[in-house]
Amino acid sequence: MSDLKRALGEAVEAAFAAIGAPPELGRVTPSDRPDLADFQSNGALAAAKRLGKNPREIATAVAERLAGDPRLSAIEIAGPGFINLKVADATLSDRANAIAADPRLGAETVATARRVIVDYGGPNVAKPMHVGHLRASIIGESIKRIYRFRGDEVVGDAHFGDWGYQMGLLIGAVMDENFAVRAVVERLNAGVHGEDLGAFDTVDLADLDRLYPQAAARGKADTDYRDRARKITAALQVKQAGYYVLWERFRAVTKVALERDFHALGVDFDLWKGESDVEHLIAPMVAELDAKGLLVDDQGARIIRVVQDGDKRELPPLLVVSSEGSAMYGTTDLATILDRQRAFGPDLVIYCVDQRQADHFEIVFRAAIQAGYAAPGQLEHIGFGTMNGTDGKPFKTREGGVLKLNDMIELTREKARERLREAGLGEDLPPAEFEEIAGKVAVAALKFADLQNFRGTSYVFDLDRFTSFEGKTGPYLLYQAVRVKSLLRRAAEEGAQAGPVNVSEPAERDLVLTLDAFDAALTEAYDKKAPNALAEHAYRLSQAFSRFYAACPIMTAAPAVRASRLTLATAALRQLERALDLLGIATPERM
Ligand code: ARG
Repeated sequence: MSDLKRALGEAVEAAFAAIGAPPELGRVTPSDRPDLADFQSNGALAAAKRLGKNPREIATAVAERLAGDPRLSAIEIAGPGFINLKVADATLSDRANAIAADPRLGAETVATARRVIVDYGGPNVAKPMHVGHLRASIIGESIKRIYRFRGDEVVGDAHFGDWGYQMGLLIGAVMDENFAVRAVVERLNAGVHGEDLGAFDTVDLADLDRLYPQAAARGKADTDYRDRARKITAALQVKQAGYYVLWERFRAVTKVALERDFHALGVDFDLWKGESDVEHLIAPMVAELDAKGLLVDDQGARIIRVVQDGDKRELPPLLVVSSEGSAMYGTTDLATILDRQRAFGPDLVIYCVDQRQADHFEIVFRAAIQAGYAAPGQLEHIGFGTMNGTDGKPFKTREGGVLKLNDMIELTREKARERLREAGLGEDLPPAEFEEIAGKVAVAALKFADLQNFRGTSYVFDLDRFTSFEGKTGPYLLYQAVRVKSLLRRAAEEGAQAGPVNVSEPAERDLVLTLDAFDAALTEAYDKKAPNALAEHAYRLSQAFSRFYAACPIMTAAPAVRASRLTLATAALRQLERALDLLGIATPERM
């Protein structure tokens, strides 16, 4: 079922072709002047130039071709040769009925489904998630949902950061502080069996949170300290028992906290694989890369050079094996490509990671292509900007530290509760339900504030604005959806039945045209990996609904009109909820 814009576009393109003009110039767009027309085509101007004719003449010839089309109630030529189209009420009614009856609400599926992996979130052991991971999680979750809804076979993977230098740093730091742990680690490393591992249970997330930043700072300043961390990393990677068992403890305590944060955010992964999961592939991979002649020795390290003709600047090589013999961030990424190729055979892997890692991915992708592990175009990094403070720099707390994701979620929830109370919403609901609603309002606030911008754009963290029930915000959209839900509940209680749509009022026409635009928004979001196209659609839809609701009484209308409007309201609600769901936002039943 094609949308009206596309169907009419095809008719206009055929008319262009019939008069000898390039058909693609017949493209139609929603009208700039909705008071005058529904769609327009500006192609007569370009066609006139190509054919050496007068644009109005072209437009008139096209209009004559379209004249008999029963879907159009008016075809007018405006200004120098713009073709304005008005859709017949009956055609809009048919389209509304089709959307209302469609479980997909008018959205198409892709012609050929692909296998797609979305690598997003990117949490790390021991490093609590901060606002940077917020964007990776929010954008990636939405892209995963959009791809899946369009019909692709999609797997979302967290790609847990658990195998690099930061592990060596942390193991060293914990051993320096906790002597009981240190003693057990050393005995295990020495090959002693039957150790009591109870000491490890005392290591908790608070220790890791506290120790990691200190260790990271010291590693930068103190070369001996750094060298020791590197040695520990190398020993961990060959699974030296003491380090390995302590590392397992780090992983476990971190994962619990991460899962709590992701759950609170409505983010969930199909796969929770980590860098360490490809550990067994690294040695054979290095041997193979070597056999293929790709590895170059570089001061004790082994690298792959990735420079290409035409590069504007010199990209550093991929560091495959460090001089200590360890696998690096890029090594595990390369091995993960191999692993995914074998396990899933993706047509496309989308890496949803901070724009500042663009070079890293370019280097890894080039190396993967050289090694024959991936084809050009199969791996794609989609970067995003930062969430900034009012000073225009990446957001920091008042004390100048990074805000932990968990604290940010809590802060937003508190604000959501406040907003709900201010607006007198949810007051009469049981406390547990109120809490659930506040959680949903908070998630909607954070996610919509993020996703309404094109991902490449940075934006300013402004909790007051994000949580407002007015303006272009997540809470506003939830409120609109809940309003429609309560209207439909009331209608059901009064026994009012929905029936066939028959549009006549301008606000009804406008609502149907907006519903019709869902597929185009979804397609754009999919093609450009840009959920903001859907966020925009959700906002327009709720505005169109608001105008419709203000202009077109439902419950007091005559039965046939009421039935038609109930169908429209139901379709609008379902499409809005679907669009929000594709953004990763859940709608409460009431407020
Ligand atoms: N853990 C990384 C970080 O925090 C992000 C991982 C992104 N994904 C990947 N395949 N490298 O920066």
